[in-house]
Amino acid sequence: MKRLEGRKILLGVSGSIAAYKAAFFVRLLRKEGADVQVIMTPSATQFVSPLTFSVLSKRKTLFEYVSEDGAEWNNHVELGLWADLMIIAPASAHTISGMASGRAGNLLLASYLSARCPVMIAPAMDLDMYRHDATQSNLRILKKRGHLLLEAEHGELASGLIGEGRLAEPENLLEAVLTFFNPELPLRGKKAIVTAGPTIEAIDPVRYISNFSSGKMGFELAKALKEQGAEVVLIKGPTALEAPAGPDEIIEVRTAVEMYEAARKAFADADIFIGAAAVADFRPKKVEKKKIKKDGSPAVIELEENPDIIASLARQKKAGQWIIGFALESHNGTENAKEKIRKKGLDIIVLNSLEDKGAGFQSDSNKITIIDKENNLTKFELKPKREVAADIVQYLIKYIHA
Ligand code: C5P
Repeated sequence: MKRLEGRKILLGVSGSIAAYKAAFFVRLLRKEGADVQVIMTPSATQFVSPLTFSVLSKRKTLFEYVSEDGAEWNNHVELGLWADLMIIAPASAHTISGMASGRAGNLLLASYLSARCPVMIAPAMDLDMYRHDATQSNLRILKKRGHLLLEAEHGELASGLIGEGRLAEPENLLEAVLTFFNPELPLRGKKAIVTAGPTIEAIDPVRYISNFSSGKMGFELAKALKEQGAEVVLIKGPTALEAPAGPDEIIEVRTAVEMYEAARKAFADADIFIGAAAVADFRPKKVEKKKIKKDGSPAVIELEENPDIIASLARQKKAGQWIIGFALESHNGTENAKEKIRKKGLDIIVLNSLEDKGAGFQSDSNKITIIDKENNLTKFELKPKREVAADIVQYLIKYIHA
């Protein structure tokens, strides 16, 4: 079945080398049955020919107010009213700035101002342009306006630099559009918070205490929740692995206290909290201001307890909020997990055992048992973390609707 049959999509392509990826995106949209009208900025036409898009979309690509022969007016108001969804992909720093400040210097920007439909923005640019305060504050303005931001991905950029700024892959863009148009998704309208990765606790300016958490399980959960229609906030500690594209917001933290603060704020109007982070239970009582010298090193580092994030949120929990925790146990798993549900005030706990081969921290797979506060226990096979995340989210959906 074509999932976008009858959907009218206005695709704005701005001047970035990533414009070639928009051609693949048009193909994917067309394959799903969408009617696609492409508008390019004049500078985008230097990267990819309008003809490419005309052929792929089966509609004449528009890039000027007035047609080349001077005989036709491309009506931006009509275009803005025609579409069910407007997507700007790639959105260059220049186009993002034009959208944020309401300039109408080209057909794409004018159509944006005339559009009454929802708007998605997929930025693409060099990493320094992307993280520049000016770009970030423009993106905040657009998000505040209610537009959906499809975060740029990490990887090699046209400049040769490596970092964030790559246009989200066409498959991910399509996924976002499919999610947008699917009203049936079971977590539509729900806000979910996921914590992921380790926290780090400084000993001195160069050393810290942490753990081996890779963040993979939490990242897969964020994706699985998004696929089921939830609005997702990912709060992540420092990981070698890049956070996935897709969450509506990614909050980067380092310490348990920072993670706690971010989680507390985000949880206020959330429906679901999943604590997949491996939070450091303790932090050094005193962080040395200077690097500790080998000869003067203390024999003992005194520790103090970090807040238990999940337990603290559970204490503030209101009706209609669900909390899922993880338990990583080396022995007596089930008993310890049941005790943890009770002690921390969780709804559901996901138990993984250190005894299972191919499961746990750095692994790509996991073998879990889900236990809920009503003492129902469900065991799962060893699976890739992507599938484990889907199992957890499906369990949660049934639990919410039970
Ligand atoms: O007590 P334990 O560390 O085994 O509990 C694991 C669960 O509690 C996980 O869901 C983890 O994210 C959460 N946790 C937390 N804050 C802590 C310690 C653990 O939210 N300080």
